[in-house]
Amino acid sequence: MNEFQGNPNFNISNQTVSASCPSNIALIKYWGKYENQIPANPSISYTLNHCKTNTFMEFFADEEFSVQTYLAGNEEKKFAEKIEKYFKNIEDFLPWILKGKYIIRTENTFPHSSGIASSASGFGAIAKCLMDLDEQFSGKIADDLKAKKESFLARLGSGSACRSLYNGLVVWGKTDEVEGSSDLYAVQYPNEEIHPIFKNFNDWVLLIHEGEKSVSSTVGHGLMKTNPYAERRFQEAHENFTILKEILKTGDLQNFIKLVEHEALTLHAMMMMSEPAFILMKTGTLEVINKIWNFRKETGLALFFTLDAGANVHLLFPGDSDSDKIKEFIVKELLQHTQNNGVVKDEMNF
Ligand code: DP6
Repeated sequence: MNEFQGNPNFNISNQTVSASCPSNIALIKYWGKYENQIPANPSISYTLNHCKTNTFMEFFADEEFSVQTYLAGNEEKKFAEKIEKYFKNIEDFLPWILKGKYIIRTENTFPHSSGIASSASGFGAIAKCLMDLDEQFSGKIADDLKAKKESFLARLGSGSACRSLYNGLVVWGKTDEVEGSSDLYAVQYPNEEIHPIFKNFNDWVLLIHEGEKSVSSTVGHGLMKTNPYAERRFQEAHENFTILKEILKTGDLQNFIKLVEHEALTLHAMMMMSEPAFILMKTGTLEVINKIWNFRKETGLALFFTLDAGANVHLLFPGDSDSDKIKEFIVKELLQHTQNNGVVKDEMNF
């Protein structure tokens, strides 16, 4: 048992709470986990400014435990089953959680199935709602412990969600490079150790392929258990933290680009080396990557990419004076590789 153990003395009542939580995009990737959502390696992500989930949660005290969920007004029974299972799993930490009925309404500010991690923002927002209820039922807790517990609870819903509870650059997983880092919750990367160039960045997501992924992240993580390259990969993620720490401090954009693209390609290489193998990139993904590399060679401008577990390409570039030329190139040359001219424009400013 740990500091997140719930207070057994609670007093429940009907309540409505709401919360909003952004999505995030990892630079050093979480891919592979152990029992109880313990990550196999540390990861770090940017929390996005605009892509968010807004959640309204109604709690009906003393009714039989059940969960109903609505996504953009439409009932989602599968999601409700997932949440019921999740709530049963976190009873030790919120002892009142199975003592009522829930109606949960969520909306994303970005297109559904766009490949933007809605499980991260979704579980982040649910964890915030739950901690608001907990304060109503069990009494006020200190703000920093509340934020930590939100991150802890979000992790148990979806690993990457725990990083969405903080702004800026956020670390999840124990690493000697970041003080206070933990496998149980995320922490903010120290702001004073980040060069200004990394505090004003764009992330434009090209929607190469909308729709369900052929292999879910959860299955993908599971396949790392038998991947012959897994141990080396986990070790490399640790090594990349040491390299990234120096890059972030000095503002070394060229090595940032190299490291971030390498992490993205490693993630997808791991998928290809799984048994059974799978590939989530599409033709458009590869066409865009090649065009980015040619553009960088020809212009020297800092446009680069990362990928999460899907076909879409996150285009990263600093929010400086060159960004107009980069945006023009994206519109003229890259949009044609998306399904419906789909692009979600986000940014990180902190
Ligand atoms: C490729 O957090 O979606 O986006 O913990 O099983 O819910 P579960 O997986 P999830 O995995 C995301 C993996 C990733 C990389 C990352 O965000 O670090």
